[in-house]
Formats: sequence, structure tokens, C-alpha cells
Amino acid sequence: MSASETIFVTGGAGFIGSAVVRRLVAETACQVVNIDKLTYAGCLDNLLPVAQHPRHHFIQADICDQPAMRRLFQEHRPRAVLHLAAESHVDRSIDGPAAFIQTNVVGTATLLETAREYWRQLPEGEQQSFRFLHVSTDEVFGSLGPEGHFTEETPYRPNSPYSASKAASDHLVRAWHHTYGLPVLITNCSNNYGPYQFPEKLIPLMIVNALAGRPLPIYGRGVNVRDWLYVEDHVTALLTVLERGQPGETYNIGGHNEKTNLEVVTLVCAILDELQPAANGRPYDRLITFVADRPGHDLRYAIDASKIARELGWRPQESFASGLRKTVQWYLDNRWWWEKLLQERYSGQRLGVLASNAGGLP
Ligand code: NAD
Ligand code: DAU
Repeated sequence: MSASETIFVTGGAGFIGSAVVRRLVAETACQVVNIDKLTYAGCLDNLLPVAQHPRHHFIQADICDQPAMRRLFQEHRPRAVLHLAAESHVDRSIDGPAAFIQTNVVGTATLLETAREYWRQLPEGEQQSFRFLHVSTDEVFGSLGPEGHFTEETPYRPNSPYSASKAASDHLVRAWHHTYGLPVLITNCSNNYGPYQFPEKLIPLMIVNALAGRPLPIYGRGVNVRDWLYVEDHVTALLTVLERGQPGETYNIGGHNEKTNLEVVTLVCAILDELQPAANGRPYDRLITFVADRPGHDLRYAIDASKIARELGWRPQESFASGLRKTVQWYLDNRWWWEKLLQERYSGQRLGVLASNAGGLP
């Protein structure tokens, strides 16, 4: 990406978006316009490494705000949009689906329509090089049994309000390509983990609970399987798809790391036993507690990532053992980051148990 290019990153104050922003600033010459509403999940501390950088431009804005989006396109004239802004947590979508419909569906439609207006009036060469990369999830495919993998041809069968809203947004992106010719790309990725992940998600929640001596809540019997990908591998995949992906195509991204939740939490405990033994000398896995299952809990996700490997040459570089160790070490070294979030935004309570309908649909 050259110095004359501007890239929009939506959701660039979140977990994955901030990793994209940090990488773009560190390893390319482009201007990065970071558009984020700063919801509970958006955190400017994630951007401290690039806060003063002259090529990083942070703008607090809502992707649902079309006049604001129009102004940004006209002012900054991007070559590409990397769209990561979303409500991302399944448990919160059970408690309150409305925000998911608003940002993930309405927000994506707003951004697509604004991008189309802008793209339409570009000179032909710039129209051809423009890209809209929509970052989505493997959860749109629903749940697998013990066998099989999601491919790009797997039919969509979303089961949670979160995955249904992401599926809807994927369909909108596809439609804007087929109907209007907008040069879009879609990626469907498995579970990410790594530094700066908000402590509501499984791995960081287990780390911070264990360090506080609190129970480690495992939903159901802990047999649900996720495929784990280190966040920096996801960033590399996204930049690869942006540069070499075929407009109109979708690409599955996964880590080839299928683990049950019980295996993941047991491994987190073992790493903590080694790096930061509990003061009372007892192993952390004594804190594992089985709790009521997540409503509609998908049993298993597994990604067939052979298309992106074959066509674009991307493969994950980080093993789960090394990536998880780095992640645990990062949370140990950066207590200030998550202690502030726990104090100000989320204190580790159980979400998504149908106890309330606050924020539900009208
Ligand atoms: P996150 O919750 O950490 O960050 C989301 C960011 O979007 C936050 O900074 C938030 O402030 C911002 N945002 C929310 N609503 C907005 C709005 N209306 N306008 C502007 N900004 C808004 O999420 P994440 O885990 O970094 O996920 C990023 C994207 O990747 C999402 O689209 C998610 O669906 C997708 N994804 C995530 C994973 C994963 O494991 N975390 C896996 C596959 C795909
Ligand atoms: O698959 C990709 C998706 O991965 C992304 O699209 C989502 O944005 C991301 O949040 C993630 O969704 P999950 O629901 O898989 O992630 P979560 O960390 O919430 O849960 C992972 C698994 O662990 C899941 O099976 C539920 C379970 N779990 C989770 C929490 C928070 C527990 O057993 N206990 C917990 O306390």
C-alpha cells in the first residue's frame, strides 16, 4: 500500500480492528482513517502504540450516521474500506439484539450505500482498484456435528441474534456487488484470540478470573468446539485478501486449531500455573465451574481454509500453544489495560442467560 493511498478501518478501536490499524501503520506507508463509535468495546488504549503517529487519523463516528460517513468519504477519498465495526459478543446479542441489528445490519447497509455513491463517481482506474472488505464470522454457517468443516459453499444457518445479524450483513454486501458492481470481498473467520481482547470473551475472561481467584465458568459440559486463530494471523489474512482477493469472492479463514472449551480453559490454567502460580500454591484448574449452558449454543465450528491457502497463499503461522502463551503473558504484563475495563465497563458477570430483556427489540 503506497503513501498516496488512504485506507478506512471501521471498528479500529476494537480487538481485531486495532490490530489491523497497528499493522497498517507499522508496515505500510498508507494513511489510516480509523472510524469507531467507541461503544463499550472500543478502547483508545488499544491504539496507544499509534496514537501520535502522523498517518493514523482517529475519528469517533457511528457507521449508521450516513451524513457523517458521506463527509468522511468525500474528505479522505479512500482506496479501500476494511469494515470491522460491529457488535461482536454472542451473549450480549441474547440479552439485547437491537444494537446488533442496528450496527451490524443497518450500519453495514449505510456504509455500503455511502461507499457506492462515492465509488460511482470515481475515475475508471480508481473504480477498478477500490475495495470494500467486509469482515465476517464462521458463525453464519451455524453448527456442525462431530465431523465436517465449513467451506465457502456451506449454506448459511445462523443460530444466534449475533450470527443472524452478521449473516444479514454478508448478504447485503453480496447484493451490492451483484446489483451495483461494487468491488467487495467477504471473509468468514473463526474465533480470534490475542492481546487487547475485551475480557467478556472466553480466553481473556478465564485469565482475569483465574488471577482474581474467581470461578472459571464453563457453559454446559465444556464440550463445544471452536477453531482458534491468533489475531495477528487474522490481520495478515485480511491484508492478503485486500491486496490479492478476487472482487465478489468470499474467503474462509481459520487456524486449524479445533479445541473443546474445556481443553482451552485447562490449557490457560496450565500456562498460568507456570507463569504466575497462585499465591496459595494450588492449581488454577480447581476454579473450573460448570454453569448453565448458553441458549442456542452452537456445538462445533471448524473451518476449511484451503481456498485462501490455494488461491492467495495464506496460512496461519502461530501454533495454539505458542499463541496462547504469548496471550497469557500479555495479560500478565498489561494488568492496567484490563483492570481499568473491569472497573469502568464490565466486571465479569454472566451475560446471555435470558434473565432480562433490557435493550431488546421494541
Ligand atoms: P470488538 O467488539 O472488539 O470491536 C468492535 C469495534 O466496533 C469497537 O471498537 C466498537 O466501538 C466499534 N463499533 C461498534 N458499533 C459501531 C458503530 N455503530 N459505528 C462505529 N463503530 C462501532 O470486535 P472484534 O472482536 O474486534 O471483531 C471485529 C469484527 O470481526 C466484527 O465484525 C466481528 O463480527 C468480526 N469477527 C470477530 C471474530 C472474533 O473472534 N473476535 C471472529 C470473526 C469475525
Ligand atoms: O467464531 C467466531 C466468533 O467467535 C466471532 O464471530 C465472535 O465475534 C466472537 O465473540 C466469538 O464467538 P464465541 O461465542 O465463539 O466466543 P466466546 O468467547 O463468547 O465463547 C467461546 C466459547 O466459550 C463458546 O462456546 C462459549 C464458551 N464460553 C464463553 C464464555 C464467555 C464459556 O464456556 N464460558 C464463558 O464464560
